[in-house]
Amino acid sequence: MKLRLDRWLALLGTGSRSEVKTWIRGGEVAVNGRIIRDPALSFDAASDVLSLRGKETDGRVIRHVMMFKPAGVLTAARDPKQPTVMDLLPPVYRSIGCMPVGRLDKDTTGILIFTCDGEMNHRLLSPGRHVEKRYRALTEGKLTEKDAEAFAAGLELGDFTARSAKLTILKAGEDTSLAETVITEGKFHQVKRMFAAVGHEVLELHRCSFGPLELDPELREGDWRELSEAETSALRKAAGMEEEA
Ligand code: URA
Repeated sequence: MKLRLDRWLALLGTGSRSEVKTWIRGGEVAVNGRIIRDPALSFDAASDVLSLRGKETDGRVIRHVMMFKPAGVLTAARDPKQPTVMDLLPPVYRSIGCMPVGRLDKDTTGILIFTCDGEMNHRLLSPGRHVEKRYRALTEGKLTEKDAEAFAAGLELGDFTARSAKLTILKAGEDTSLAETVITEGKFHQVKRMFAAVGHEVLELHRCSFGPLELDPELREGDWRELSEAETSALRKAAGMEEEA
């Protein structure tokens, strides 16, 4: 994670880009114990040691983002042909190593979390952690309580058996139905495959929540924002990285 010294300091929230340039030129900033006066020099924010006015600072740039993923973009770091979720974030997030936590299909909308913390990313996806994800699905055909029972019993999907999942039917029409399901795994096309297993094609899929975080109703499709401290702490707890209060 190589960054220009002025960008690194500004990302840490120590001051504006022009303030930090003044500090650097004034000899107030050291890297690995050596005063650096050139704001444009690049350093590794993950391993180099940053000091401001003689005091060592925690120089790790860790950011967490919530996005309302729109339909039509891939959840991938990059793609030669198609737009990806990373293209919706300013380039600095790529340079500090922010990555999506798991994936949503190209046509799926809803909450997508990004983090620069590789350990947290890994833990949130670990099958053993049982992090809940709530999806709203518009399906073809009429959903019934029998389908809810099948979801609760754990569906056989060929290569694996899905864990017991809650299915709440919101509207059961003759042609289409609306329902929410909460799953604790994240296998490829899992929700679509679960509905297909009970004979209903998913026409639209939207993720409403990821672990403790609900999609911010203020966000429009394609919008994003950084997580608050409380949200970050809740996510860290879900990842087993912080004690419950
Ligand atoms: N399950 C799916 O089938 N698709 C998604 O995008 C997410 C979960």
